[in-house]
Amino acid sequence: MTTQWNEVDEFAKKLIYNAGSTIRKSFSSTLNIETKSDANDLVTNMDKEIEQYFVKEVNQFDSSHKIMGEEGYGDSLSTLEGVVWIVDPIDGTMNFVHQQRNFAISVGIYHNGTGKLGYIYDVVADELYHAHSGKGAYLNDTPIPPLKPARLSEAILAVNATWVTPHSKVPYEVFGALVHKVRGTRSYGSAALELAYVACGRLDGYLTMRLSPWDIAGGKIIIEEVGGVVTNLHNQPHTLTNKDSLFAGNPSVHEEIYTEYLRGKL
Ligand code: IPD
Ligand code: CA
Ligand code: CA
Repeated sequence: MTTQWNEVDEFAKKLIYNAGSTIRKSFSSTLNIETKSDANDLVTNMDKEIEQYFVKEVNQFDSSHKIMGEEGYGDSLSTLEGVVWIVDPIDGTMNFVHQQRNFAISVGIYHNGTGKLGYIYDVVADELYHAHSGKGAYLNDTPIPPLKPARLSEAILAVNATWVTPHSKVPYEVFGALVHKVRGTRSYGSAALELAYVACGRLDGYLTMRLSPWDIAGGKIIIEEVGGVVTNLHNQPHTLTNKDSLFAGNPSVHEEIYTEYLRGKL
């Protein structure tokens, strides 16, 4: 089993850049668009093709490495034992279809459940956010500095409008109070990019009710490498084998939001 992380890192970057180039070339051809769980849950031939590419290449690179992807071409896993690649071939498919921007490839590589290598590639901007656990986080070749403490009243949070409007299963009043407290809110439509922006300090936090392991896996490693905190809304770590809520942020903002707004209120 290859656990020479520099070698794995080089290989992962090669796959990500190749996949990005394939996606950019697809802009001039007609997409085949289907729906999944509901009419707004889109998948295209490119989501499938890119995931199949990762599965084939990772299996050839080291057949003991496992790979879990959104479109189901990889392994179906109930634990993160061994080396596991967690891949979202296109995060922000709705943006990909409607805008041809604001989407990313997200890859997290874990060893027995510990994050080793994380990547979020903004394909259109040609910006790769990446981290090697314990060895720093980068945006392309530029180091991403550690996050500095921030005040909640001066914070920008990413929150989807769905979570602040009346809904039987969502504590929307809790999110509403928070939205009034902070300086501003944003919603980009790609969990991976929102996590990359938290890592860079462009956002101070990102809260959402339900994400899948492939939405979180790459970003978690990058944020933690710059001293940020990634938990669910109950301040617990993710298993990365099930869907869960997400609460990522600058450490001071994470603590203030959890103690003042979330603890005992969800
Ligand atoms: C979605 C995006 C979106 C988030 C959804 C995800 P997909 O991923 O990250 O921002 O709100 O919950 O499912 O389906 O485009 O890969
Ligand atoms: Ca996704
Ligand atoms: Ca996806």
